[in-house]
Amino acid sequence: MSASPRPTRLAPADSETLRAAAEVLRGGGLVAMPTETVYGLAGDATNDRAVAAIYAAKGRPDFNPLIAHFAEAQSAAREAEFDSFAEKLAAAFWPGPLTIVAPVAKACRVSLLARAGLDTLGLRVPAHPIARALIAAAKVPLAAPSANRSGRLSPTTAAHVLADLDGRIDWILDGGSTPLGVESTIVACLGGPPRLLRPGALARERIEAELGVALARQSEAGAPLAPGMLASHYAPRARLRLEAHDVGRNEAALDFAGALGVSTSRLDLSPDGDLDEAAANLFAYLRALDAGGAARIAVAPIPERGLGVAINDRLRRAAAPRPEA
Ligand code: TXA
Ligand code: MG
Repeated sequence: MSASPRPTRLAPADSETLRAAAEVLRGGGLVAMPTETVYGLAGDATNDRAVAAIYAAKGRPDFNPLIAHFAEAQSAAREAEFDSFAEKLAAAFWPGPLTIVAPVAKACRVSLLARAGLDTLGLRVPAHPIARALIAAAKVPLAAPSANRSGRLSPTTAAHVLADLDGRIDWILDGGSTPLGVESTIVACLGGPPRLLRPGALARERIEAELGVALARQSEAGAPLAPGMLASHYAPRARLRLEAHDVGRNEAALDFAGALGVSTSRLDLSPDGDLDEAAANLFAYLRALDAGGAARIAVAPIPERGLGVAINDRLRRAAAPRPEA
């Protein structure tokens, strides 16, 4: 399926453009919006035509469901059946970088296509003021995957969105760099123990402290992962060499806390070793090193705690072997 070319408008998200973009959404159009995690490509989640256009613009396989975004936790809760874990999580972390997967409610208005035919729904109440204002103005839940072409890195600036989706969507609301920089953490609350489907911008430790139970690991629970978590994903063009302790002659370097030392093409995710800062810089730095034309990028070891877990997850996916295309 190919999207027909359409002029893409890029504008700062002031009250005027928010109103106009909300109108575009209500008419079934597509608007890229900043959230606190990454930019999302938003369309009316209740409109099959808009949802189909999202899949087409991204070149995304339609078996991969979309997250529905809401302005308020109360409106999200109407669309799904929350168990006590989901209720606790929503109360503690919404608005914020957490997606809850729960069984759909009978009255769920979200298009079956957005759910990829599943009887569960991914729900999120973003904290970013622009996203919240846009959803409120559109007066419908917004389906919003990350605003990149399928298989590419998630965008953390409006320029990243333009590079991937120019001519394929109606609007890009520019809200500067997204503060957290990696996608939301996804937790499934489907009756049994809550299960971590995707590590993300909300650290597992904080969720477990709130719930007082350990999140089930994907493999223990036996059910499939988030369908979008294919091994090769979030991919730059360059090959990544993880856990590097040196930099080869023809390699660029993605450093952390100065571990790789001085080299010609080097960006340090956080010179001070701050994992939150590293997460915020991850995709932009990968894109920048990629744009520099390096064939290989040596990546320093990242500690496996806090947001380091999400960073390592995205790095492993970016490093996974993939079909040449
Ligand atoms: O931070 C984020 O979550 C961003 C911003 C824009 O909100 N969105 C985002 O969406 O990362 P996307 O589509 O790029 O990733 C959503 C992931 C996919 O891996 C998808 O398979 C999974 O969520 N997902 C959505 N609904 C699901 C469901 N009902 N069950 C399991 N996984 C689901
Ligand atoms: Mg994505």
